[in-house]
Amino acid sequence: MKTDFDNKPTHIACIMDGNGRWAKQQGKPRTFGHRAGADAVSRCIESCIRHGIPMLTLYAFSSENWNRPSLEVKALMSLLHHFLKEKVSSLEKQDIRLSTIGNTAKLPAKTQQLLNRVVEQTKDNKTLHLVLALSYGSRDEIVEATKKIAHMAQSGQLNPEQITHELFEKHLDTAGMPDPDLLIRTSGEMRISNFLLWQISYTELFVTPTLWPDFSEKEFLEALTDYNTRHRKFGKI
Ligand code: FPP
Repeated sequence: MKTDFDNKPTHIACIMDGNGRWAKQQGKPRTFGHRAGADAVSRCIESCIRHGIPMLTLYAFSSENWNRPSLEVKALMSLLHHFLKEKVSSLEKQDIRLSTIGNTAKLPAKTQQLLNRVVEQTKDNKTLHLVLALSYGSRDEIVEATKKIAHMAQSGQLNPEQITHELFEKHLDTAGMPDPDLLIRTSGEMRISNFLLWQISYTELFVTPTLWPDFSEKEFLEALTDYNTRHRKFGKI
């Protein structure tokens, strides 16, 4: 069902939480939950296309997730690789552009190569811009941006007085992307977990108790319906 909303987000970001708890509820290993989470990713992409949302950023692997047990990290990397391989042709067919934020140099070499290929192959696609946050941490991103700007100042390319919000944004992984209008977090946790700290300054938040593997069109529509009622003031009255 396609519903018309007066106010629709241009950019939705998702903290996909609850895969482990979902698996536990079924008496299955955590990796089972991640696999079901990948199916929910596909459904979320379909929902964005159905409702004309042009941009979706998914927190797929955080810089802190490297500290999980090595078998779980391996399983997540393998899931990501197979997901990308399987999705290449449908991304093309559905006119989806893929890009990434985060320290992807830490990913397995074969996944980096595959990502580079898919990013290049889909760079002109227009219907949906899908951004995967991979080995992403907002504090790292902010520190890296600060280092780049500090080097510019040190070498005399920049007067510190010229540092503005706009200049700072240009050095973040999200340079050139609009800030998210709506951030969805599943599994009921009221946390941001080091995700897009700079970029969500004025983002509307929607937290659902639904665990990510159960996230479907129903929850997506609830989030859009709720967003439609928000009055965004950006600090004004
Ligand atoms: C959080 O659930 C989820 C993650 C750390 C990884 C997100 C990964 C996916 C949704 C699947 C793969 C994604 C792609 C793009 C193929 P959790 O493990 O922290 O759950 P818990 O809090 O219930 O333990």
